[in-house]
Amino acid sequence: MKVEEMSIDEQIGEVGDILSEHEKTRGVLIHALHQIQAEDGYLPEDVLKRLSRKLDIALSEVYSVASFYKMFHFKPRGKKVVKVCLGTACYVRGSKKVLTALEKEFNVKNGETTEDLALTLETVGCVGCCGLAPVSTINEEVVGEIIGEKKMQHFIQIIKTD
Ligand code: FES
Repeated sequence: MKVEEMSIDEQIGEVGDILSEHEKTRGVLIHALHQIQAEDGYLPEDVLKRLSRKLDIALSEVYSVASFYKMFHFKPRGKKVVKVCLGTACYVRGSKKVLTALEKEFNVKNGETTEDLALTLETVGCVGCCGLAPVSTINEEVVGEIIGEKKMQHFIQIIKTD
């Protein structure tokens, strides 16, 4: 059974007794948003409209909650999400060059997805691997020390490889 099909009380269980109706609804909404994104990769507008009706929450509130959290996306994302770290350690070691090279190679700007949905390019703050600066990630994989043309080309090949 999908989350949207479950009653609020079914999803919240006994904890629901101490929550207000508003808190319950909001909790279910966030859970449902996670579920939708896990299935579709993003939050499609038509699905959000159905969710709004199902939970009896104004569509504007659904969008308000979803847009508050950076983890939710409103457009389709690439099969590979590449994040270039622009944290201080990475920045001083040349991560801006990495970003520029990727934008040129894949013809996308920061925050965009290629038309074939192969790649989404984003930037991020420190990912906790400063010793490997400059660092980028491909989905959950960390790639470090992307310094110089040879390493940059190797990084691009990793991105292009299935
Ligand atoms: S600043 Fe990039 S990993 Fe820390």
